[in-house]
Amino acid sequence: MEKEGLQGADTTPLLEHKSNKYLTLSIQKSPQTSFLKSKVPPFYEGASKMPLWVITGANRGLGLEFVTQLSTNPSNTIIATTRTLTSDLTSLRALESKNSKVHILECDTGSESSIYSFAKQVTELLNASSETKIDFLLNNAGINSVSQEKALSMTAEGLNDQMRINVLGPAKIVENLLPHLKEGSVVMNMTSGIGSLAYSSESEMTKCTTYCISKVALNMLTVHQAKELRERGVTVFCMDPGWVKTRMGGEGAVLEKEVSIKGMLEVLGRVGVDKSGRFYEWNGVEKAW
Ligand SMILES: NC(=O)c1ccc[n+]([C@@H]2O[C@H](COP(=O)([O-])OP(=O)(O)OC[C@H]3O[C@@H](n4cnc5c(N)ncnc54)[C@H](OP(=O)(O)O)[C@@H]3O)[C@@H](O)[C@H]2O)c1
Repeated sequence: MEKEGLQGADTTPLLEHKSNKYLTLSIQKSPQTSFLKSKVPPFYEGASKMPLWVITGANRGLGLEFVTQLSTNPSNTIIATTRTLTSDLTSLRALESKNSKVHILECDTGSESSIYSFAKQVTELLNASSETKIDFLLNNAGINSVSQEKALSMTAEGLNDQMRINVLGPAKIVENLLPHLKEGSVVMNMTSGIGSLAYSSESEMTKCTTYCISKVALNMLTVHQAKELRERGVTVFCMDPGWVKTRMGGEGAVLEKEVSIKGMLEVLGRVGVDKSGRFYEWNGVEKAW
């Protein structure tokens, strides 16, 4: 089982959850408040907006929950991607059959040729519809396949796999979808609390080394993407979903995926260029790198 491990502290949870006793290690010296507590309204709730969402790794876990919650709003068009169309897609297909605005496409984020073919299909889909841009690109797909590897036992294969899927994937997806990322588009890179150097330097955790390295690299990629895309008016930021009960997070995790996704959607609804290049928790609290 690929367990994600204990996540960083959430100091001011926006949404109620009963598991704070597990979240004991605070990396924040003084309590920080969630920017969700500001009065800025969530713009995607505006009736005039018909957002187009692209979500990678949508067949299970957090990705599937994003599609589940987003597809309840008829304004949303969703391109949900899966590593392969031949795996068990029962839950995702059920959402697609209920909602004609849910489209399922194949995208293996560990394969440049798959990402290229996927981007071509997105272009065809957009050309054939009234959509003009991708409003939200959620780079959610990720692996923690060698969680037992530590600093003194890591392998080239383990490191390469995490870097290829968790870092190069989001880089190539943004590069290939660039024509559809325009003024107002938002790119969210799904990182992890254990990709925070500030957290890790205070934590005793030693497992998941290659995964942690890949998420630190993803954070740096986010900072660079944010700078590259600033002139286009595109926001790029990274998000820690918390420690969530999925196959990766495991049963011992503290957050239900419904709660984490609800929080992240609220963050996504309010994030703008002033938040580009930054790192947020699922509840809108800014996280230390
Ligand atoms: N759960 C947590 O506690 C937690 C905490 C911090 C960060 N995260 C991050 O949140 C994201 C989602 O995690 P999760 O908890 O939902 O994990 P999960 O339940 O293991 O789901 C991972 C998803 O990513 C997909 N994926 C893996 N490799 C892929 C590839 N090469 N191409 C396309 N899709 C691929 C999987 O597809 P297949 O079914 O085809 O393998 C699956 O849909 C990840 O980036 C993870 O690092 C999770």
